Amino acid sequence: RKDLKGRDLLTLHDFTVPQINFLLEEASRIKALQKAGIPHPYLQGKTLAMIFQKSSTRTRVSFEVAMFQLGGHALFLSPRDIQMGRGESVADTAKVLSRMVDGIMIRTYAQSEVEELAEHATVPVINGLTDLTHPCQILADLLTIKEHKGTLKGLKLAYVGDGNNIVHSLLYGCAKVGMHISVATPEGYEPKAEVVKLAQQDAQETGAQIAILTDPVQAVTDADVVVTDVWASMGQEAEQREREKAFAAYQVNRELCSQAKSDFIFLHCLPAHRGEEVTAEIIDGPHSVVWDEAENRLHAQKAVLATLL
Ligand code: CP
Ligand code: NVA
Repeated sequence: RKDLKGRDLLTLHDFTVPQINFLLEEASRIKALQKAGIPHPYLQGKTLAMIFQKSSTRTRVSFEVAMFQLGGHALFLSPRDIQMGRGESVADTAKVLSRMVDGIMIRTYAQSEVEELAEHATVPVINGLTDLTHPCQILADLLTIKEHKGTLKGLKLAYVGDGNNIVHSLLYGCAKVGMHISVATPEGYEPKAEVVKLAQQDAQETGAQIAILTDPVQAVTDADVVVTDVWASMGQEAEQREREKAFAAYQVNRELCSQAKSDFIFLHCLPAHRGEEVTAEIIDGPHSVVWDEAENRLHAQKAVLATLL
């Protein structure tokens, strides 16, 4: 805990294997407290500023509720309302917020903007999603998998779809916990080579195997966990049509999932598009754990907030 206090959460790659495991254990511990009705006001009197340059349901609600349940307060700042939306610099915003709040969460487009904010802030900065990564989501995903499978190391996770922020953070996260990950994307939509390279370094330490493929059947074969995400992420709305064509063979449906282990679980960060990246039969079916996954955003982020702030 001590070496995480005051730290930023920009990507999961930045944290060590024991640090990731600590956050997951903290999340389970705090979740159990809440389920037992035991108050856990670790952040009394503390404030989190939340900058949202993109839409959000889960991230906004889970961070705001987390701060409330930890005894603190959260401020929702949209670009329509704050001066950053009228061109005030990221650096100046970071310096001013740091004089008043105890932590800053930001959801935005460029990862470099989060890095710039962190460089100029004197309080912890938490990445609430960029075009490149979504670390808080994947902490919740790992917690969910651990709850349902009892372990993480040695499991096989298959991701089918776009090489986006979700798969980048899954690559980092799986590598840290020793979970094998097979990714299938159409050509031209692969995860970034730089991310794969960094994940490979951790994978060598933990024994995780990473496979970057184009064949969804190969990826899903014998998987314990099947994951997908939207074909067009926030900011890619104009590419929707073209992406629907490119991803047509990458739908997670009954036929594809018949290749997975018979007790596989299905995860999706949500929001989902039924009939596109996943069929209703799968996401609303017996293998799906997406509601546990959404709830776990709250518990995982409480662990992050209580530890970093
Ligand atoms: N999964 C996720 O981050 O959802 P929101 O976009 O609703 O925050
Ligand atoms: N890849 C999606 C995730 C949403 C939580 C997006 O960036 O829009």
